[in-house]
Amino acid sequence: MVNVIMHGCNGHMGQTITNIIKEDNEIQIVAGIDLFDDGHNDYPVFKSFADCNIKADVIIDFCNAKAVDGLLDYAVSTGTPVVLCSTGLSDEQLARVNEDSKKVAILRSANMSLGVNLIMKLLKEAAAKLVPAGFDIEIVEKHHNLKLDAPSGTAIALADSINEEFDNSYEYVYDRSQRRQKRDSKEIGISAVRGGTIVGDHDVIFAGQDEVITFSHTAYSKALFGKGAVTAAKYLAGKGPGLYTMKEVLE
Ligand SMILES: NC(=O)c1ccc[n+]([C@@H]2O[C@H](COP(=O)([O-])OP(=O)(O)OC[C@H]3O[C@@H](n4cnc5c(N)ncnc54)[C@H](O)[C@@H]3O)[C@@H](O)[C@H]2O)c1
Repeated sequence: MVNVIMHGCNGHMGQTITNIIKEDNEIQIVAGIDLFDDGHNDYPVFKSFADCNIKADVIIDFCNAKAVDGLLDYAVSTGTPVVLCSTGLSDEQLARVNEDSKKVAILRSANMSLGVNLIMKLLKEAAAKLVPAGFDIEIVEKHHNLKLDAPSGTAIALADSINEEFDNSYEYVYDRSQRRQKRDSKEIGISAVRGGTIVGDHDVIFAGQDEVITFSHTAYSKALFGKGAVTAAKYLAGKGPGLYTMKEVLE
């Protein structure tokens, strides 16, 4: 049985994961951390890691960047691996994650969905074959009308996974309205659509001579991030220090 501390347990993702884990007999939540608690969970909840006196095999974090320093203090001092999913970390915090991963296992991914991470892996293989054959690459992402940032972090991560195969020689182009010229073969166009309640669609388009191949991922609910995080937690429990990604979980 893998014992988990759920950081941000009363938030949207924390509650999604609480429900996923209830149905899984290989893993259980032994404590939660959240600023707000009404006592409805079937595990004890503490306001911060400083108050938490319960040990676990792994921490799942879907909280807030402001709480990440306390999380890392606890993880390093107790040697507890962390699946770190909170976004919006500062450059200093990202540097600290790198440093702390020399002392404890930390897994961080821009997108915890197994499907998106599998596509990232497949894209490398596809690009290695299709780019030399003259295929152009474009990415189109679609999200709900409340999303503030564009393009999505996942669209950039998809582009990055291809770019890494080509020594980061691709330029990302987000807007073609200001220049009247043909696309260069060394660019990846990234376009964002915003509307309604779309949870998250990503299409990676390889357009060649007389044929088009599209890798497409559709998220129907945020639960898929929770499922990915639970799979990652089972993988990370018992692992030694290091900076892990979902790539290793899929291998
Ligand atoms: N990597 C991914 O795939 C992925 C997917 C979804 C969400 N996220 C990220 O996960 C985080 C949580 O998302 P959410 O939708 O559950 O948010 P949310 O606002 O619903 O939940 C956050 C919870 O953390 C608690 N909290 C906030 N500050 C705290 C603090 N200082 N100490 C203790 N508890 C604190 C809040 O009370 C809340 O219950 C966000 O950063 C989000 O961007 C990442």
